Amino acid sequence: MADANVYPPSAEFVQQANVKGIEGYRALYQRAAEKPEEFWGELAEQELHWFQKWTHVFEWNPPFAKWFPGGKINASYNCIDRHLTTARKNKVAILWEGEPGDQRMISYQELHRLVCRFANVLKGRGLKAGDRAIVYMGMVPELPIALLACARLGITHSVVFGGFSAEALKTRIQDLEAQVVITCDGAWRRGKEVRLKDAVDESLTDCPTVRDVIVYKRTGGEIPMQAGRDHWWHELDEGVSEICPAEELDSEHPLYVLYTSGTTGKPKGIVHTTAGYLLQAHMTMKWVFDLHEEDTYWCTADIGWVTGHSYILYGPLSAGATTMMYEGAPDFPQPDRFWRLIEKYRVNIFYTSPTAIRSFVRQGDQWPNAHDMSSLRLLGSVGEPINPAAWEWYYKVIGKERCPIVDTWWQTETGAMMIAAMPGAVPLKPGSGTLPLPGVIADVVDLQGNLVPANREGFLIIRRPWPAMARTLWREPERYKQQYWERLEGVYLAGDAARRDEDGYFWILGRVDDVMNVSGHRLSTMEIESALVRHPAVAEAAVVGKPHEITGQAVACFVTLKKGAWGDRHALAEELRKWVGHEIGSFAKPEQIRFTDALPKTRSGKIMRRLLREIVTSNSVTGDVTTLEDLDVVTRLAAQHDED
Ligand code: WT7
Repeated sequence: MADANVYPPSAEFVQQANVKGIEGYRALYQRAAEKPEEFWGELAEQELHWFQKWTHVFEWNPPFAKWFPGGKINASYNCIDRHLTTARKNKVAILWEGEPGDQRMISYQELHRLVCRFANVLKGRGLKAGDRAIVYMGMVPELPIALLACARLGITHSVVFGGFSAEALKTRIQDLEAQVVITCDGAWRRGKEVRLKDAVDESLTDCPTVRDVIVYKRTGGEIPMQAGRDHWWHELDEGVSEICPAEELDSEHPLYVLYTSGTTGKPKGIVHTTAGYLLQAHMTMKWVFDLHEEDTYWCTADIGWVTGHSYILYGPLSAGATTMMYEGAPDFPQPDRFWRLIEKYRVNIFYTSPTAIRSFVRQGDQWPNAHDMSSLRLLGSVGEPINPAAWEWYYKVIGKERCPIVDTWWQTETGAMMIAAMPGAVPLKPGSGTLPLPGVIADVVDLQGNLVPANREGFLIIRRPWPAMARTLWREPERYKQQYWERLEGVYLAGDAARRDEDGYFWILGRVDDVMNVSGHRLSTMEIESALVRHPAVAEAAVVGKPHEITGQAVACFVTLKKGAWGDRHALAEELRKWVGHEIGSFAKPEQIRFTDALPKTRSGKIMRRLLREIVTSNSVTGDVTTLEDLDVVTRLAAQHDED
């Protein structure tokens, strides 16, 4: 591997690393592969607090797994209480900066107080283990506090990203049959207020299960409060007890449900349970971020996505880290906000997305160069493949050629990192996630399940259950089975294309299903299509991902209109964009809308998305089109330029 494009860790980094040298990695990997029960069992005992020990490490009734059955545990206890008898008691747990520049530093002791109080508030509303809470908040400390309070009582939480619309929120509340919604009056974004409570009000028109709405006051904007249903957090919190013992929950108690886009119009409720999830989030935090006691660690994700769950909240707090949270936009008030934050708080570990990195590249080196970022020791990337040019920029301009970059491949479904470098052990190659982590048996196979030779493209699969894996889809076990475990018997099909090089390194090539990845956010083509056809002017719609310089992919739509719906095309395109924003959320707004007389279909009526993808990529079509119903449609679409 003595290639110019291979970056072995520096001697200096190796010396201080938690896992040192490739032998260190190989020893762990081999032990986990050969004796998974011993491997995970030992870690579970050493690294987590148990009220009661499990009877065995895992149970596997494909595709349903149980980890540490018989055990009693609490995630909130593991993230807070157990640190209170150590030197971490007064350590900053959550280091927060608001977009306007306000700051809060919450110690583990203080976090304990705040979480216990809010857990008692929830109890006071009659909520108990097994109930469900929808959390729709901005990035304020009360968001993790709410989640930890739920976890403390065994209330399953489901965070809905604040960028989702009222419509999207409603379908999630209904699907989960939540008893409570926890929200904010609003959130700050680029100096403007995002009106979260308004969206909650709009969504609750048809949600009979919701008894209470608890509103944390963040922006102070005027909002209506519905008597009996809506309560201010600070009012319920008055005089509440600071003592709230953590419930002793089963290892497999559902910790959270997180909705993610699938290949149909209906989002999937990914179910994560407690013990196995926490163990893998905790271990990967130490292995991949090489976490040290003194580190200030910052993951820039939103807690509305799985990255925030595992690597702002559960992983870092379980490991006793100082986890930083920033409320607002990266370019507010200026494009150097992130670099300012790194300088100000002396951040050591910084974890962000390729889309963010590419937009920093575009803004220019003068922004990071104006700041002292010498505290940085390790960089991370997640959410989408990182192109080597962006990697090199991140390495040179941000890391000053001193900081390893861990490119972490995982998914909402995997719960925790699966393929990623241990930075003191594994030499890096720009654009590759490198090697699987201990306990992860990953391969690249063809449609028959046979291994493909080195450097050939195939499907990424995982062969054995892993602790943080999704246990099922909320109330859809059949769909869980079909989606991930049936196409290739007995193995987990990730939905990504990948290749493995001659050194066994994994290169992720992108989704193989009808899922797009826009700025590291997963969007379903079907979900956007269903949104479009709900508009009165639209007859049919087909949506594909279009390569995009900054966001990786962008949403491109082909739309046929109902008779008489033709008017001003530009105005209609704009209206449809807004419509998608209204139905799903502004982050799903299409970049491009093309109107057409007909969509290219096979004789059986299936829309040929492959052709549409080619059209948006290159404006030309090659390959087999003989099954097309109307060849003219394709040629016309290809000829038409994206004026809209
Ligand atoms: C999909 C999962 C993992 C949390 C954020 C996204 C893509 C994710 C990488 C990476 C290449 C990546 C995959 C995956 N992806 N990380 N390091 N390199 N691709 O979670 O919304 O569940 O999306 O994101 O396509 O399947 P998600």
